[in-house]
Amino acid sequence: MLKLLITRPIAAPVLDQARTKFDVTLHEGGAMSVSDCATALATYDCILPTLGDQFTAEAFAGDIRAKMLGNFGVGYNHIDTQAAAAADVIVSNTPDVLTDATADIAMTLLLGTARRAGEGERMVRSGAWGGFDVKGLLGTHVTGKTVGIIGMGRIGQAIAARCHYGFGMNVVFHNRSPKVTAVPAQQLDGLHAVMAAADFVVVATPGGSETTKLIDAAALAAMKPSGIFINISRGEVVDEIALIEALETDQITGAGLDVYENEPHVPDRLRALDNAFLLPHLGSATAETRQAMGQMALDNIIAWAEGGDPPQRVN
Ligand code: GLV
Ligand code: GLV
Repeated sequence: MLKLLITRPIAAPVLDQARTKFDVTLHEGGAMSVSDCATALATYDCILPTLGDQFTAEAFAGDIRAKMLGNFGVGYNHIDTQAAAAADVIVSNTPDVLTDATADIAMTLLLGTARRAGEGERMVRSGAWGGFDVKGLLGTHVTGKTVGIIGMGRIGQAIAARCHYGFGMNVVFHNRSPKVTAVPAQQLDGLHAVMAAADFVVVATPGGSETTKLIDAAALAAMKPSGIFINISRGEVVDEIALIEALETDQITGAGLDVYENEPHVPDRLRALDNAFLLPHLGSATAETRQAMGQMALDNIIAWAEGGDPPQRVN
């Protein structure tokens, strides 16, 4: 039997199926360091890793037994896919199955920031609420406002559909290449044009070197003072310090974040801000979605093991 390392607990039915096909080892102790990854690559035939496991170029530099990494997650910026290819290791991911769940978290952040839900929740919990207040915690209406989506892939388009059909918002977007969308939406010329036009900016690009710090101080400065910034993609896409400064100085009105530059570290300055609505990377965190992600990761590994081409291969 081929040896499979699964690096985090996955849904029981998926694990049970994996055990019928492979000699399964479960990694204990959470995210794997570069040296853990190097050891795993030298020890197992295939691996089911996830976000936080550091499959860097250095991890691929030694002896490699593994031929297949079936990543649990759509984002794979924690795997150096070129180094993997050079070492003859196939990498796959789990697109589509998490699109709706992740778009829903974008809406949670959009509505949560617009309606100041974090502040309100903290007020109720702390006992500071003094009753219905005609002027207290006034937020901003979302209907009729403009959402600017940065990165109009599958998740960006699912967010656009929710904003347009569900909430009566106008949709503008920035995308690397020209894109025709099913949802009525206007592609603007350049990132800064979208930052400037939007009442809500939502970042939905992939991570990785091409988008690192795409949202810098200059991009944030293009936003309206009433603008709200939302990120559900990867923390590295945003210059976190520049964002904190824009929030501290009220250069923009608020931010809703599901991802951070150095997860799980969230800077104290960010946690101190009342106008930041902060979630712990929950984009794909529904039971149904996480099971589907595990199944898709395993299906790709099985396809490879049976001599086929993994359907969600990325390198
Ligand atoms: C989660 O962030 C993923 O990439 O699936
Ligand atoms: C608000 O709760 C209202 O009754 O208007």
